[in-house]
Amino acid sequence: MNCGQTLVGGDEDRRPGTGVGFGIRDARKQELPLLADMRKRLGELLKAMHPGLWELSAGEMARQQERYAEVIDSGKGRVLVAADRWDVPVGMIVVRLLENPRIEPGRLGRIDDAWVEPEWRRRGVMRALVRNAAEYAQERGYDRVMLDWSVKNVASARCWRGLGFDPMLVVGMAVSSELVEASKEGRQ
Ligand SMILES: CC(C)(COP(=O)(O)OP(=O)(O)OC[C@H]1O[C@@H](n2cnc3c(N)ncnc32)[C@H](O)[C@@H]1OP(=O)(O)O)[C@@H](O)C(=O)NCCC(=O)NCCS
Repeated sequence: MNCGQTLVGGDEDRRPGTGVGFGIRDARKQELPLLADMRKRLGELLKAMHPGLWELSAGEMARQQERYAEVIDSGKGRVLVAADRWDVPVGMIVVRLLENPRIEPGRLGRIDDAWVEPEWRRRGVMRALVRNAAEYAQERGYDRVMLDWSVKNVASARCWRGLGFDPMLVVGMAVSSELVEASKEGRQ
């Protein structure tokens, strides 16, 4: 089982709460307010970066901690954090094991809510979180892992591509009234 604390690199200095680096471990329930705040800041960043992109409803935002607790309790996912030398989370990722018998592959690991505190970026934190999420999925027979990102989020696109995610699908969005108008114009 890969639950509990997971070490990255096997280096003493990288254990959560020790040394100068960071370590990867499961989130603790008392940390959920901090993680919900990270998710809130991710939403704000995406809203500023990509106006018009859908966002979490206020209700969903309010029950974010509950949602993370459900993942932790489900046994079908993990909320992973990167913790600094004081064992304080400085980055997070949520990985869930999804099953959909209508598609192949029907077992898919899904990553969401990826965030690294600004002062910790470009130090391999997300690489380590993704590696742990991928190991978790692989060990349970989920041989594919997916996530999505906004086309306007250039840093994250570089990050995901750099970590090995292949972009596969583009989601198109239009204003329905504009589509109606455009189709009228097209008819003339
Ligand atoms: C995107 C984000 C998660 C990356 O986290 P990170 O810890 O800085 O990433 P890492 O240091 O592990 O970098 C992994 C790889 O991603 C790439 N990368 C990461 N940030 C990058 C950037 N700003 N520009 C270019 N490449 C970048 C690099 O290829 C890097 O590999 P390298 O170290 O061999 O160069 C972080 O910038 C972040 O939290 N951004 C705001 C929230 C966000 O956009 N989340 C994703 C939502 S889909």
